[in-house]
Amino acid sequence: MEQCSIPPQRTIHTHPIKRDIDIRTSLRYGCTTFVVDNMSELKKFLPYRERVGLLLRLAFSNRYAVVDLSKKFGLDVAEAPAFITKAESLGIRIKGLSFHVGSQSTQPEAHVLAIKRCTALLESIRDGAGAPLSLLDIGGGFPIAYAGFGIDIKPFCAPIRSALKTLPDYVQVIAEPGRFIAAPAMTCLTSVIGKTQRQHRPWYYLDDGVYGSFSGQIFDHARYPIYALKQGARTESVLAGPTCDSIDIITSSIQLPQLEIGDLIIATMMGAYTSATATAFNFIPKTPIAVLNDIKKTIPSMRRIP
Ligand SMILES: Cc1ncc(COP(=O)(O)O)c(C=O)c1O
Repeated sequence: MEQCSIPPQRTIHTHPIKRDIDIRTSLRYGCTTFVVDNMSELKKFLPYRERVGLLLRLAFSNRYAVVDLSKKFGLDVAEAPAFITKAESLGIRIKGLSFHVGSQSTQPEAHVLAIKRCTALLESIRDGAGAPLSLLDIGGGFPIAYAGFGIDIKPFCAPIRSALKTLPDYVQVIAEPGRFIAAPAMTCLTSVIGKTQRQHRPWYYLDDGVYGSFSGQIFDHARYPIYALKQGARTESVLAGPTCDSIDIITSSIQLPQLEIGDLIIATMMGAYTSATATAFNFIPKTPIAVLNDIKKTIPSMRRIP
């Protein structure tokens, strides 16, 4: 964040579960906004109540999300008024609400419904005895075009924008888009290290697989758009990773031209939830990351890669 010149006071700690050391480290850094969704977590802020403002995370389930986060985090909206009253009685300031409708949300309905329910809650709090809540964090979940998904972000966001217009005017809105910003920024290059014919199909073994950069296929249920650089007549083929495990198959059905050892396979939209979960299983090193818009620094560091 320092590198991005973002003042620490403008950052938020969004994980609903924190250790005391996490809170202290964040405060020392200058971050004073944290997220909570349960009473035990709220009480962790008693020693720091003079210094913090909290967001109460609410749960909204979403059948359109590839990863539904409401199973794990968020308080039920019906329990929110009592929670906020309890925080006030403890002298801990709840300054707003937050939610995350789940990652790769393919329809805007969940965002819209969550905003509407938060609007109703914020208005009921304003009409009550306590201090009004003035911040709404609408989280992430904004989708990208993976293989099989044709997402156009403008029509996706139109109903969300309309719903946001109904918020009381004293409420500031922030968002936490992750995948939408990060995913298109990275492209994976992997090369063929082995080939054979099995079950009447060409199999190509690559130097990266589901234990590496393609781990998001398992943890994140993502299907990355995959291409071969080479042109030519295509046949139904299999792409497998380099490890000894049979789960390490990237796709068992992809149209590819005939490839040779050393030929490149390209996967796009690889900037989110890929290298973060990659492992070095079987002593196969993780794929190095090269930053191409900083070419002077990148080329020498690429030469060092064994
Ligand atoms: C608290 C929080 N904010 C933001 C994000 C980013 O979400 P997405 O990549 O779906 O936009 C996540 C992802 O899990 C998250 O847990």
